[in-house]
Amino acid sequence: MTVRIVLGAQFGDEAKGKIADFLAASARYVVRSAGGPNTGHTIVLPEGPVVLHQLACGVLRHGVTGVSGPGMVIQPFKLEEELDGLRQRGLLRGEFALSDRAHVVLPIHELEDVWEDELRGRHRPEASLGTTKSGIGPAYADRAGRFGLRVAELSRPAVLRERLELLYATKAHLPNLPPIDELAGRLSEVGARLAPFVRTTEPILWEAISRGENILLEGAQSALLDLDFGTYPYVTSSHPTSAGALVGSGIPPTELDEVIGVAKAYATRVGAGPFPTEDTSERGEYLRRTGGERGATTGRPRRCGWLDLVLLRYVARLNGLTSLAITKVDVLGGLDDVPVCVAYRTPDGREIRDGPPTSADDLARAEPIYESLPAWPEFHARLKERILREGPNALPADLRRFLAFVEEGVGVPVEYVGYGAHRDETVWLGPPSQRRRPAGLAAWSP
Ligand code: IMP
Repeated sequence: MTVRIVLGAQFGDEAKGKIADFLAASARYVVRSAGGPNTGHTIVLPEGPVVLHQLACGVLRHGVTGVSGPGMVIQPFKLEEELDGLRQRGLLRGEFALSDRAHVVLPIHELEDVWEDELRGRHRPEASLGTTKSGIGPAYADRAGRFGLRVAELSRPAVLRERLELLYATKAHLPNLPPIDELAGRLSEVGARLAPFVRTTEPILWEAISRGENILLEGAQSALLDLDFGTYPYVTSSHPTSAGALVGSGIPPTELDEVIGVAKAYATRVGAGPFPTEDTSERGEYLRRTGGERGATTGRPRRCGWLDLVLLRYVARLNGLTSLAITKVDVLGGLDDVPVCVAYRTPDGREIRDGPPTSADDLARAEPIYESLPAWPEFHARLKERILREGPNALPADLRRFLAFVEEGVGVPVEYVGYGAHRDETVWLGPPSQRRRPAGLAAWSP
């Protein structure tokens, strides 16, 4: 039995959906424990690409249950569309369970999200967060304020009505609220349609652990967007850390075995906030074009830049990473060189290596210090076929040097490498314990 967490180790969009899907093959339950419709996990199946927003990738596999867990905020109308879309394509192959404790994102939260971000922007243009406008912040704020509505209440019309009336009383400042009767009616209807999936999910997971089954917690967003430990206020409103994944699923910390951090071989960020290694030159544009860097939920172009080991060391420490998955290495194939940020220089000339400053303003002023590594050849179809056939030994020597450099710099072994968008384009490098330094390093030598 293994309880594993797979989480984003940068600013989101690390292709963790693909790694989660790879690991889901050996899981009985895959659990989403935070976030909601702001999420977009792309998985490229033989039938074509699928983007999951509020469903865990377990729903795509026979014999696996995808759980939308207690720490999530669920937009029920969008969830229903997502389920219908998968059903119509014949891709809803696993089972689905929706936590009765998950909170509900209402259309008024979406209105409020837009209203709040405009308010920030009017106050100071740089204060706007560039949220996904999916109502996440307001829904989590109402949860913390004890005004929220949970999935359990959707099938109890009297309680639903009473909770909505109280919630509306807090929203008098918002224009264009939908009439309360209409919203209550629509929520009851969608609640009835979703009712067959609603469960108290934590005892189901506890029993699975007792039976020795594998559980995968599929993180959404990323540790650097964590409400407390990310680049506040340019963060999301949940806790996409390993600790947050446990809180959001009801699994106790003593059951946890592995924490896998997913990072691209470069870096991207969507929305506002500090991004020290952002490259606004033609090279950044190359990454965007070659990596297809557009938001899976909003379609916004992502800001692009280079791998940042200062941030990655911090994320590794904060989350207790036991291994790394490095994705999209194919995007850097054929470049002249691969810059990697190893430290920052502060405006007063100090060098920082082990973690970002607390203030987002200070982080924005940090100047990255790069080491330049040789790039590996282009990932043409023949190379991909060789890796598929022969496994990690077929990875180009310069790529293996890059991976060893990342391991050394972060102090965490690289266990998985993603080299393409397709489901089978991930290679496992073997169990990390056998590759730990110093003995493990030899295995990386070309
Ligand atoms: P919110 O989560 O919609 O409130 O957005 C807050 C910040 O997190 C914005 O900068 C978003 O662009 C960012 N964000 C939220 N979800 C994701 C995601 O799944 N990938 C990348 N960025 C995200």
